[in-house]
Amino acid sequence: MKKNKISKNWINKQRRDIYVRKSKLEGYRSRAIYKLKEIDEKFKIVKNGINIVDLGSAPGSWSQYLSEKSKNSKILSIDLKEVKEIFNVSHLIGDFLDENNQSKLTNFFKDKLDLVVSDMAVNTTGNKDLDAISTGELSINAMNFSVKNLKKSGSFVSKIFMGSTFNEIVQNCKINFKEVKIFKPPSSRKDSKESFIICKKIR
Ligand SMILES: C[S@@+](CC[C@H](N)C(=O)[O-])C[C@H]1O[C@@H](n2cnc3c(N)ncnc32)[C@H](O)[C@@H]1O
Repeated sequence: MKKNKISKNWINKQRRDIYVRKSKLEGYRSRAIYKLKEIDEKFKIVKNGINIVDLGSAPGSWSQYLSEKSKNSKILSIDLKEVKEIFNVSHLIGDFLDENNQSKLTNFFKDKLDLVVSDMAVNTTGNKDLDAISTGELSINAMNFSVKNLKKSGSFVSKIFMGSTFNEIVQNCKINFKEVKIFKPPSSRKDSKESFIICKKIR
């Protein structure tokens, strides 16, 4: 499919989408907010006064939700892109896969982490299988980072795509966490291969 055809389809989809309209009305930067909200309503992962890392945070709607819901928490986000200021959220611009950046993320906190959320995804190439593999690698890295840096009672949430890396991620999460659930929030587009993995309590 040609690039301008993809973007026309994307614009038409956005116009029809109720979550896009709702996010604009409610002052959120992306429709992605509702995915985290629905995950949190079901799995109760966001508490007050905790240490949170938000991976792949631009334009910032998950951080907006965390900032509103998790008062007195210490929140640090990272993305390749800049994110406009959000109350009580510090932002690091850079590649999460770079080990120096991972050290910066952990050094920001005095204690270990309570929650790591990852909505990281690579720029779509139009090849859904390839995109799923690349985003799968991001999820695996996010899980390894979480296992190393979460408190025993901590939680990890990550976007994952149905595809060749799906089983590997689920199995690894089951080895490292006591509770592992897969959930596709109602606001996640039906035609997207995206789902979310919710992991609690390090083994
Ligand atoms: C779906 S968007 C995130 C939306 C965000 N959760 C929100 O609510 O606004 C995915 C993000 O992952 C970021 N990303 C992809 N690869 C990354 C990497 N290696 N390091 C940091 N961020 C990355 C992209 O730049 C993009 O902004």
